[in-house]
Amino acid sequence: MTFTPRFPRFLHGGDYNPDQWLDRPDILDRDIELMHKAHVNCVSIGIFSWAKLEPQDGVYDFDWLDGVIDRLWKGGIHIILATPSGARPAWMAQKYPEVLRVDEHFNRNHFGNRHNHCPSSPVYREKVRAMNTRLAERYAHHPAVILWHLSNEYSGDCRCEHCQKKWHAWLKNRYGTLDNLNRSWWTSFWAGTYSDWSQIEPPSPRGQSANTSMLVDWRRFSTQQCKDFILWEKAAVKAANPELLCTANLMERFWDYDYFSLSEALDVVSWDAYPQWHGEDDIARAAEFAMNHEMMRSFKDQPFLLMESSPSLVNWKRVNKLKRPGMHLLSSMQSLAHGSQSVLYFQWRKGRGGVEMFHGAVVDHDGLGEGRVFEDVTQVGTALEKLAPLYDAPRDKAKVCIIYDWSSWWAVESSQSGQLGHMQYFDTVNMHYRALWQQGVSVDFRDMRDCTDLSGYDLVAAPLLFMFRDGFAEKLRAYVENGGRLLTTYFSGVVDDTDLAWLGGAPHGLIDVLGVRATELDALHPQDSNALVMQDGRSFPIHELCELNENHGAQTLGTYGSDFYQGMPCLTRNAYGRGEAYYLAAKVDQSGLDAIYEEIISALNIPRALPDKLPEGVVATGRGGAVFLQNYSGRDQTVTLAGSYTDMLTDREVSGTFTFPACSVMVLK
Ligand code: GLA
Ligand code: ZN
Repeated sequence: MTFTPRFPRFLHGGDYNPDQWLDRPDILDRDIELMHKAHVNCVSIGIFSWAKLEPQDGVYDFDWLDGVIDRLWKGGIHIILATPSGARPAWMAQKYPEVLRVDEHFNRNHFGNRHNHCPSSPVYREKVRAMNTRLAERYAHHPAVILWHLSNEYSGDCRCEHCQKKWHAWLKNRYGTLDNLNRSWWTSFWAGTYSDWSQIEPPSPRGQSANTSMLVDWRRFSTQQCKDFILWEKAAVKAANPELLCTANLMERFWDYDYFSLSEALDVVSWDAYPQWHGEDDIARAAEFAMNHEMMRSFKDQPFLLMESSPSLVNWKRVNKLKRPGMHLLSSMQSLAHGSQSVLYFQWRKGRGGVEMFHGAVVDHDGLGEGRVFEDVTQVGTALEKLAPLYDAPRDKAKVCIIYDWSSWWAVESSQSGQLGHMQYFDTVNMHYRALWQQGVSVDFRDMRDCTDLSGYDLVAAPLLFMFRDGFAEKLRAYVENGGRLLTTYFSGVVDDTDLAWLGGAPHGLIDVLGVRATELDALHPQDSNALVMQDGRSFPIHELCELNENHGAQTLGTYGSDFYQGMPCLTRNAYGRGEAYYLAAKVDQSGLDAIYEEIISALNIPRALPDKLPEGVVATGRGGAVFLQNYSGRDQTVTLAGSYTDMLTDREVSGTFTFPACSVMVLK
């Protein structure tokens, strides 16, 4: 699948701000030379250029951009062209304050910063339409321009009058009548009943913040608002050339919008990855970012682009640590292993001022284009050229699916239960993913939308799936009945689509499928622990959450090791139809999940990237017949492979037993 038919290659480059250097043509010329030196073939421009493109209301200036684009094109550099809606000019904020967002305290923002527009403001919409239309008419057929970069890192929400009107319309459409809304939101709690639609203000720390159904719906609405804004931007740029595709750069662990839903508005998913390496646990960090990559691929079930990453460090974490030697190539190759078609950076060249002047860049203030970071970047550029045969190759087909659902995430983290404010949905799912990742298993992520089809999977894992949206229990039931394997956990199937508790026992609709019924949820203090004790005597620690359950015919595979529920089932398996359903009642540590998944994977013969047993932190990830062997363990490891391969990066033969250095990567063919 090729997103950029004008340039069907792995993209290497990143965010470039020539508009900050227009008075230094010498630097702009030097940039092109250095891009060649670093094997950079593509840059993203115009992301924050609105003040230069429309210096006064209705007065446009594209001459400088013509010059920049021509210069890049003559230099053979391709362009991802941004729409500038991520930040507005001062004159616009002053003349039309309605373009600025109203925050959760119902205060309107002032001019400054970025990512703070109102998505509904008719003025802002019109300004964006006019700008995007002009950009597209001028550049959408330019041979250098290969993709649209819509805005930048869409985020947040607005509570202005325009947005509140839309909120009411959205609610009317969803609930039809106020009676239905009051019932669906359980507003009889704390005198919350509404007698007119106009009373329904968005959630706010100054107003309603105790209705969790409303909180979930507000996030759904905000997703819809952003999606609608994306479609608006997209319509304007596509008018000139429908063939030129659109992306928007997404983020990790992103709470504000449901990315499965939002991605429907995009042609291509791209994202910005900023892992903090060399902290407490690089293996956990690598598993986290592997999951992010896998999710980005899953949103549209197609390859994705790594739109931003740092060539060295960022400047906005508490501790901004340099990438150790090898880590830049390794983490860049990780994105490729999971299906990326690019390695792009923020930023090409450090600016002289502003809060990002010390953020990592390919070219430092010295302007030299040499040294460790520049060499690391050049090494990645060269690697991408060597890996060209993999460009069209997809990630290995997944036989395992993990359910990750934004509505359920919003609901479980908003619920006052268990570990208050600390239910850790993302991290919990990530622990399950990590067990599969360590085994070299491909995983697709799916949510609970109607279009989700589980039939092709051998195993579906639905950890901590607090909400079962309408019809989802039936879908899981049919999946198991037809021979699928399901694994779900404590605190799943507890609430319905509007965040009301399901009546009649949890996990809703699956008690007979799982052979257990959940009864009580116990939360442990940080100093407490329990254990999952397997029938063969192996024992795995449990922290944070233990659920008690009642057996309805499931086979007990492991029991609780202590406390008043010692001996009660903690891990069970139940045969149902032609399949089986596992229930894990507690938050067992990683070692326990590793053991559970290892057994299921081997019992089901689920394909792994390599058949060999690898040391912890050494992982194999398969794409298009190649295997990305990566070492995140922080130390040299001894690896033994049964087969013999060629490393596509070095053309060396690889087989037998060898030392695999810390922070290194091979691409085995
Ligand atoms: C984000 C933004 C960039 C830049 C980087 C810094 O990803 O999109 O504009 O601010 O962070 O890490
Ligand atoms: Zn608004």
